[in-house]
Amino acid sequence: MSFEEQLNRIADEAEKAFSSATDGASLVNAEKRFLGRKGSLTVLIKQLPGIPTADRSRLGAIANTKKQTLESLARKQQQKFASTQSVRRFDPTIPGKPARRGHIHPLTQTIRRIVEIFRTMGFEIVEGPEVELEKYNFDLLNIPADHPARDLQDTFYIAGGEKRVLRTHTSPVQLRAMETRRPPVRLIVPGRVYRHEATDASHESALFQCEGLVIDRGIKLTDLFGTIAAFLKTLFGADVHTRAQASYFPFVEPGAEIAMRCLICRGKGCSVCKKTGWLEMMGCGMVHPTVLRNMKIDPKHFSGFAFGMGIDRLMMLKYGIPDVRLSQSGDPRFLKQF
Ligand code: PHE
Repeated sequence: MSFEEQLNRIADEAEKAFSSATDGASLVNAEKRFLGRKGSLTVLIKQLPGIPTADRSRLGAIANTKKQTLESLARKQQQKFASTQSVRRFDPTIPGKPARRGHIHPLTQTIRRIVEIFRTMGFEIVEGPEVELEKYNFDLLNIPADHPARDLQDTFYIAGGEKRVLRTHTSPVQLRAMETRRPPVRLIVPGRVYRHEATDASHESALFQCEGLVIDRGIKLTDLFGTIAAFLKTLFGADVHTRAQASYFPFVEPGAEIAMRCLICRGKGCSVCKKTGWLEMMGCGMVHPTVLRNMKIDPKHFSGFAFGMGIDRLMMLKYGIPDVRLSQSGDPRFLKQF
C-alpha cells in the first residue's frame, strides 16, 4: 500500500473514531491511538524522509492538513464533553446521594421496647454484674451447693479465690437490688447471661434475659399473670393468648411457666411452635419465703412475684429471625434489615 493510501485510510479511521467518541475518556483514547507519540498517524509521518524527493513535499503537505483537521475535530469534541460534564456537575435538581445510616441491633430495639413497656407500668430499671458471686447466683436463691438444682443450669466457673461464675440468669440481681431497697418494689433487670451449652438455632451460650421482681403487701399469683399478659399484649398486639403451667424453680413457690399461643399459626401447630401451638415465654412464680428472708423481708407481711424471660426469643418472634446465631454474627447484611 502506498504512503498516500495509508495516509487516507488512517485519517478516515481517526475521523470516525473521534466523531463517534461518546465521552471524554473514549476521545482521549482515540487521540492517543492516532495522534499520540506512538499513534499510527505520527508513525506514518515519521516515514516521510524516506519518500523520494519528487513526492515528498506534496505528501508532506497533505499529511499536515489531515493532521490539523483531525486535531481540530478532537478539540471540538472535547469542548462538547467538557460542557455537558460541567452542566451535570452543577445541576442543583439532581437528588443528592443518600447518606448511609447505621442500624440499631434488633436485640437492642427489643430491650428498649421491653424497658419502655415496663416503665409505663411503674417499674424501675436495675442492672447487675455479669461476673457474679456464687452466693448471689445460687446460694441466696435457695440453690445450695449440694442441691441437684445447680445442675439445671450449665455454669461457667471463674478460676480464683472467691467463688465466682458468669451469671447463669438475671435472678441474682433480685438479691442485690433488695440490699438497698424496701418494699414496695417493682423492678426489671435486663442483661446478658451465660450458659455452658452447645449452640444451635435457638441456643447461644451468651444470651439476654429480663428479670422482673415485685414485692409488696398482698401480692398474689393473679397479679403476676395479669402483669405478664399485659406486657405480652403490649409487645405483640391484642391477639395474644397466654396460659400458665406449673413448673419448678428453687427460688419461687409455686413456680410456673407462661406460654403464649403461637403467633405464626395461631395455635394450629407449625415448625416455630414445634407443632404444639404454644410458645414457652418465661419462668415465673411467687418469691420463695426463704428467698424473702434472705432479702431481710418478713414473709408474714410481704409477698412478691418474680419472672425471667429470654430476650433473644422475644426478638426472634418479633422480627421473624429464624436463627439466634445470626443475631451475634456481626454481619452487616443481617443488621441492614432492621
Ligand atoms: N431464673 C430463671 C431462669 O433463668 C427464670 C425465672 C426467673 C424463673 C424468676 C422464676 C422466677 O431460667
